[in-house]
Amino acid sequence: MTEHDFSPKPYTNSIEKGKVTWESPSNIALVKYWGKKKDQIPENPSISFTLNECKTITTLTFTKKESNKDFSFEVYLDGNKKDDFKPKIQTFFERIESYLPFLRDYHFKIETKNTFPHSSGIASSASGMSALALCLMSIEKELSVRSSAVETSFNENLFNQKASFLARLGSGSACRSIEGDLIVWGKTDSIEGSTDLFGVKYPYKVHQNFKNYQDTILLVDKGEKQVSSTVGHNLMHNHPYAQNRFQQAHNNLEKLKPILESGDLNAFVKLVESEALTLHAMMMTSMPYFILMKPNTLEIINKIWRFRQDSGLHISFTLDAGANVHVLYPENEATQILEFIKSELVAYCQNGHYICDQIGFGANQIKE
Ligand code: PMV
Repeated sequence: MTEHDFSPKPYTNSIEKGKVTWESPSNIALVKYWGKKKDQIPENPSISFTLNECKTITTLTFTKKESNKDFSFEVYLDGNKKDDFKPKIQTFFERIESYLPFLRDYHFKIETKNTFPHSSGIASSASGMSALALCLMSIEKELSVRSSAVETSFNENLFNQKASFLARLGSGSACRSIEGDLIVWGKTDSIEGSTDLFGVKYPYKVHQNFKNYQDTILLVDKGEKQVSSTVGHNLMHNHPYAQNRFQQAHNNLEKLKPILESGDLNAFVKLVESEALTLHAMMMTSMPYFILMKPNTLEIINKIWRFRQDSGLHISFTLDAGANVHVLYPENEATQILEFIKSELVAYCQNGHYICDQIGFGANQIKE
């Protein structure tokens, strides 16, 4: 497939106004995406667990307008007007307009809320951009007539692919939030069907050990990130270790296949933690360099390592571009591990805040 496959055929329906709502989850990468080319094309492939509880819910109200000269939209978060969100959405609309030619024909009211606190240090860009992309896809669907059952099922697939493709243009990792439970984004030889253009479901066998995998997110630092992920990705240009890192991501995806198939939790723990630390090592070795981990991030990591050694349980951690720690563990070890988290780790969280999440299956449309 190429991007041209996402240019729509001329629309056959005309709609004056309407309203559509989608909820879309966040995701946590196991093999990390860090570094991108033009148009949000990743430098390396990545794979993530789709989350279940951390979601954005977006309602898009659209009304036909007189002139189709400019984009026209207003944004609300939790009912409050958020003009500071507008530049990001303006850029998003500019990037996707050739794939959604109706964008200038309507005025949009974008009302959004998150199930997790806004200032939790959990990035809302993946869930937020994917929810908005899905709302726009629903409008496109209404503008296009669908007839036969065959066409509908084909279009369902295309609908998700295009939603992921659009979400990617908003925020790279957002393309992995449309479906679940394991999503691959970025072309790599070891995963059939993988592409740089959108996220695809992991196509191979996954052992029972990884079903309902748990992710308890420890909110170590709820402040704004000091370095945006856009700046971080760009620092991979001319980074001394970039090429090795990109190759390592390909290798790790290949190594993950037999691990996922056999249910080898020990190998999973090693691979996932190494990926998390490599991501942060890239930040520490770029120019300019920066550190997003906090002292409590390291306290938690050390406690996890000690507890794993003492208990023999398969607790591990991963990090995204921030100080918060995602504690990952299999469902059948949840009781003991959650007890450990509550008694030993929550003390390192800001105001004792943490979120219990687990693998989810992707976005849902909310019909009124
Ligand atoms: O989607 P972005 O541009 O916010 O980048 C996110 C990158 C990481 O979260 C650090 C890794 C990943 O693969 O999600």
